[in-house]
Amino acid sequence: MEKMPYHPQLDSVRPTASPTVPAPAALNWRSGLPSLTGGLVSLRELRLSDAPTLFAALTGEEVSRFISPPPHSVEGFERFIAWTHRQREAGQYICFAVIPKGSDGAIGLFQLRSLEPAFGTAEWGFAIASEFWGTGMFLDGARLVLDFAFDVIGVHRMEARSTLRNSRGNGALRKLGAVQEGILRRSLLRNGEFLDQSLWTIVAEDRREAKGVWGARVVH
Ligand SMILES: CC(C)(COP(=O)(O)OP(=O)(O)OC[C@H]1O[C@@H](n2cnc3c(N)ncnc32)[C@H](O)[C@@H]1OP(=O)(O)O)[C@@H](O)C(=O)NCCC(=O)NCCS
Repeated sequence: MEKMPYHPQLDSVRPTASPTVPAPAALNWRSGLPSLTGGLVSLRELRLSDAPTLFAALTGEEVSRFISPPPHSVEGFERFIAWTHRQREAGQYICFAVIPKGSDGAIGLFQLRSLEPAFGTAEWGFAIASEFWGTGMFLDGARLVLDFAFDVIGVHRMEARSTLRNSRGNGALRKLGAVQEGILRRSLLRNGEFLDQSLWTIVAEDRREAKGVWGARVVH
C-alpha cells in the first residue's frame, strides 16, 4: 500500500475502462474476484461488512507507519471498499481480503494495480494486522496473489515499493525472491517527511526459474 492510488476525493470519480485488449488468459475477474485458497489463508473480494475489522486491523501506528495512510474511519473503509469494486470493474486494480483459515473476518489486504493499460506491469502492496505477523499467513497469501497475477491476469513484471526503514516489508519481499532494483529517493511523503523506498520486482522469468524456491538477489 506504499503508493496505492486511493484517496477519499476519488470516491466521486468514475474510472474509465481500459481501451486495450485484456490479457489473453484473463478470466472475467473484472466482474468479480475468485476466492483463492492456501494452506493458512484464503483470499476473496472485499465486502462492505469487512470495513470494521479492516479498520481495526490496519489503522494502528505499527501497521500503517510506512504505508500510504489508510482511511480514518469505518465509513472511510466502506467508501474505500466500494472504490475497489469500481476500479476492478474498470480492469485497473484488484484488492483481495486476507481471511485466516477457519474464520470469516478480514485481517489484511493485498492490492494490485496496473501500471500500464493491460496490466503487463503491475504494482502490489499489502498489509496485515500485526498479531498475524510472523505466522506464515503473509507468505501463503502472497503466493496466491503472485500465481493469480502472473497466471490469470497476465502480469509479466510485478513491482513493489517499500521504505528503507520498513524492515519487515523489505524482509518479506526478499523472502519471496523479489529483486531489489534500486532506491527511489524521497518518493513517499509520510507524516511530513519524504522517505526513500526500495523498488523490488518479480518478473515472470524469475518464477519460472525458481519454481517456488526463491533466493534474494540485488541488482543496481
Ligand atoms: C509486510 C507484512 C505484510 C509482512 O508480513 P509478516 O508476517 O510480517 O512477514 P513475515 O514475518 O513472513 O516476513 C518478514 C520477514 O522480515 C524479517 N524481518 C523482520 N524484522 C526485520 C529486521 N529488523 N531486519 C531484517 N529483517 C527483518 C522477518 O524476520 C521475516 O523474515 P524471516 O521469516 O525469514 O525471518 C507485514 O509486516 C505488514 O503488514 N506490515 C505493515 C504494512 C507494510 O509495511 N506493508 C508494506 C510492505 S512493502
